[in-house]
Amino acid sequence: MADKDMYIGWLNDAYGMETSLISALESHIKDADGFPELQSGLRQHLEQTRNHANLMKGCIERMGGGPSALKAGLSNVGTAAKNLINRTSKDTVVKNTIDDFTSEHLEIASYTSLIAAAEAMGDMETASICRNIRVEEEQAAEVVRGQLPLITTETLRGMVAARS
Ligand SMILES: [Fe+2]
Ligand SMILES: [Fe+2]
Repeated sequence: MADKDMYIGWLNDAYGMETSLISALESHIKDADGFPELQSGLRQHLEQTRNHANLMKGCIERMGGGPSALKAGLSNVGTAAKNLINRTSKDTVVKNTIDDFTSEHLEIASYTSLIAAAEAMGDMETASICRNIRVEEEQAAEVVRGQLPLITTETLRGMVAARS
């Protein structure tokens, strides 16, 4: 028999993941001054991420659970990459963008799992919501992937220019 509590726990993990990404994106948008294309991509995804959090909250409530901001089950999103970040470093945007690329793929994996879980639970509305969210995560991952080489080379060049 399918375990409803486990399922609600997973929905809560996704909610926690989205809420923790809201603050990460807010800070990465500030850091991305000087990289307007990246900044506008992140701004757009911040709005989508706020919407994802609200949508997941709604899915949890429909299943009779309460979203737990404290649970933030995946607040360790991109922890490995985050540990590499040196906030005072000139390559912060490179590190942030690697982190964002990682986070989007964690989201893609999480929603791929949740879609299967929702279908197994007969919760077709959540399955459909998660499919739509996953499309936006895939698009965000592509934006980040597309920007990463340019950010990396411009950061390297900037460092060379600063030294000469
Ligand atoms: Fe998201
Ligand atoms: Fe995302």
